[in-house]
Amino acid sequence: MIKDIIKKNKTMTSGLHELDVLREHFPACFKADGSFDIIRFQEYLKDKININDEGYELRFLGKNYGRLLASLDTTTVIVPDEPHNSLPQHKDSKNIYISGDNLDALKHLLKSYAGSIKCIYIDPPYNTGSDGFVYTDSFNFTSEELSVKLSITVEKAQRILDLTRRGSASHSAWLMFMLPRLLLARDLLTKDGVIFISIDDNEQSNLKLLCDDIFGEECFSAIFPWRKRTAKSDVPFGISQDYEWILCYARSDRFLAGIDGKDRKYYETDDFPEKPWRVHDMTTQKTASERPNSFFTIVNPKNGREYPPNPNRTWCVTKDTFDSYYKENRIVFPDDYDFLNIEKPVLRYWKDDDMKKAGDRFGQFAVSTQLPKNVGMSQDGTKDFDRLFNAKYFNYPKPVSLIKYFIEGAVEKDKEKPTLILDFFSGSGTTAQAVMELNSMDDGYNLQYILVQLPEAISSDTEAYNAGYKTIDEIGIDRINRAAKKIKEMNPLFDGDLGFRHFTLKEPSGIQLEKIEKFDKNAVIGDGTLLDEFGVPSVLTTWLERDGYGLTSEYQILDLGGYKAYYIDKHLYFINRNLPDEAVATLLDKYQSEAGFNPQNIVIYGYSFGWSELQGLKDSLQTVKSGEKNLHINFDVRY
Ligand SMILES: C[S@@+](CC[C@H](N)C(=O)[O-])C[C@H]1O[C@@H](n2cnc3c(N)ncnc32)[C@H](O)[C@@H]1O
Repeated sequence: MIKDIIKKNKTMTSGLHELDVLREHFPACFKADGSFDIIRFQEYLKDKININDEGYELRFLGKNYGRLLASLDTTTVIVPDEPHNSLPQHKDSKNIYISGDNLDALKHLLKSYAGSIKCIYIDPPYNTGSDGFVYTDSFNFTSEELSVKLSITVEKAQRILDLTRRGSASHSAWLMFMLPRLLLARDLLTKDGVIFISIDDNEQSNLKLLCDDIFGEECFSAIFPWRKRTAKSDVPFGISQDYEWILCYARSDRFLAGIDGKDRKYYETDDFPEKPWRVHDMTTQKTASERPNSFFTIVNPKNGREYPPNPNRTWCVTKDTFDSYYKENRIVFPDDYDFLNIEKPVLRYWKDDDMKKAGDRFGQFAVSTQLPKNVGMSQDGTKDFDRLFNAKYFNYPKPVSLIKYFIEGAVEKDKEKPTLILDFFSGSGTTAQAVMELNSMDDGYNLQYILVQLPEAISSDTEAYNAGYKTIDEIGIDRINRAAKKIKEMNPLFDGDLGFRHFTLKEPSGIQLEKIEKFDKNAVIGDGTLLDEFGVPSVLTTWLERDGYGLTSEYQILDLGGYKAYYIDKHLYFINRNLPDEAVATLLDKYQSEAGFNPQNIVIYGYSFGWSELQGLKDSLQTVKSGEKNLHINFDVRY
């Protein structure tokens, strides 16, 4: 795994990733020697492109370096926090908290969650000079290597390396830090996804240009001014900077189309002239024991007809909410309209309300970027945190209500399908609290969060350090636990997901790297220490994520004649050492006798096996190919 990645990274140069994208969509524009034929490409587009050499662009030292960093794969492994993840409140959770550098985390996430995140909110370091931002990275290129990778002179490569190594906080260094992260983030968004980025005056204009570059100018939606405080009087030149900005970009223009109600079917009926409406299911997957308050018989007051609840699928409203919806004409019964063809009562939504919501959601009908007062100011963020800790352990957390406002603007309530929200500069974990609070509302959302936070050391002269927190992710984790507890206290009937699975990202040590480097694939026996050092859970978690199963998937442990293998859908993982002959025989038997057992990919942790052991396994499994199932098994030996 790591050896393969190091090898691939070595050959990666800037632009290779972009060429791969072009190759996939325009194979005819590549010559026999693999080079790109730009004249041919222009012919494809003919009159649709306008080549203008007077265009302008954002240029900064290290722009290509930033792009290169996005295309290198991560060499970290994902280590599951097993004691935490096995606790009852966390073990089945679909929320994710990653302690690690977000550049690595985003690269891991892309393998399973590309195109799946509906809303990203981030609040990166602002590069104010006093917020501690300094550029650091651990890619130890030499100037010669970098000059080849970026096709630049050795002198220029050296200038970039100087920038990465001297802990710079220049505009270039900040842009170089943000560029690869935003590039990767973009690919995580759904087609109708949206990203919100908090920023202040220091980098606002640079960030805007950078985002235009990454997302495309036509995907720019808005800059929301956020009033963070009331005017200060002791500021230089008498101007108090009371505002910050929240930049909003859509993944594509489908963000607007998705929320303006265009795709919805509205009815116009005589009983509600000029008030078009639509209907929506009023049940939820929750069972009677999960939602006792929503387990009641609905009676149609107009004809006394009864609609008992289904024990496996209760109403999504409580009796009280139902009564108030009925008074507002929001309940439609099967007997009300012949054309509807429904068997149980459903909820009515007015087009006007949808449109207003679309407006609130910054869509086509948006009226203003002015945020409502109730999103709160900076002091409200501090109060939110204080209510949970009774202490000030984190500087300037955002108000929960601010993040809630943007999430509500970006997502629709979809009870059936969870919506993913990501924050990869999560600090004290405000976004997780916002998500849990939105889910816990009556008739609330169905959101899942992914948070990433660097285990940044906390300075020893702080209140937080004295209270026992050594890194910022420890504060974030504690905050989520406290917020979850509070939500449960305030709303004891809420039975949604208040837990999270925790993972850390780990770089292999120098010794591990050396062993990996020296490992001989043709050796008679494997090297067990390379498994002991990473551990089966880390190898398995990293691979499940890499193979598209995400971080919260359920796998099975297969007992193959005493040998433990790990099985999920199309993949079977051989990670442990000492594969006995019985294991191979049992596996063959399983393939041949169990109709539903068809893992087509056998993935092998190469270091655990000697050459002949691997060969034996491959030879034995050849037969499945010619057996009744005629499966084509793909052996993927990873180093
Ligand atoms: C401005 S704070 C976010 C505050 C957050 N919105 C809140 O309400 O608590 C930015 C956070 O990003 C974290 N950070 C900086 N660089 C990072 C990186 N490379 N990966 C992950 N987190 C990072 C910092 O440690 C800091 O906690």
